[in-house]
Amino acid sequence: MSGPGEHQEEPGEAALSASAPPEEQFSQPHAYGGALAMMGLVRRLAEEPGGSSLGREEQSIYGLFREVVVETASLEWSEKSLPGLSQKMLWRDGSSGASIALVRFAEGAGIPSPHAHASNQFMLCLSGRYRYVPTGLTLVTGSFYWNPKGSMHGPTLAEEESVLLEIYDGPHYPTTPDWYTNPEDAR
Ligand SMILES: [Fe+2]
Repeated sequence: MSGPGEHQEEPGEAALSASAPPEEQFSQPHAYGGALAMMGLVRRLAEEPGGSSLGREEQSIYGLFREVVVETASLEWSEKSLPGLSQKMLWRDGSSGASIALVRFAEGAGIPSPHAHASNQFMLCLSGRYRYVPTGLTLVTGSFYWNPKGSMHGPTLAEEESVLLEIYDGPHYPTTPDWYTNPEDAR
């Protein structure tokens, strides 16, 4: 017999508790750091339709998610002041000058002079044929190119219309190159 206030376990209750632990036994995202916390929250969000029952701590962690999607197909190409070159700027950090952009060279266009950059430059060729004339390096679809800070290169020539994902980890040029009449194009 159980006395007043004592809990009498119903048949099957122990098994149910083992398979569905009470809320406080779930791992708490805030008890972990970094990615683990986020992974825990993502799991819980997936289990909660609408995510409407988030507590204050969970909302705080949720605030760490600052994801941004840019649908590049919906952006207009912006013509630069070098004929045949246009871009879609995807991301720029104003303090460091770092940026990520899609650049497009029309067939026959290119950077006309040898030059070096003030930061590391990375390019992934998405389509076309883009050649570095002095060295003969030719980027084709899928080519990944790394041009270390200060390294001379160019002129270049797009043998076909070429689209490249271009990444700089800092400012693009030490000074505005003379092939741009608009200094904004060198940023
Ligand atoms: Fe360059």
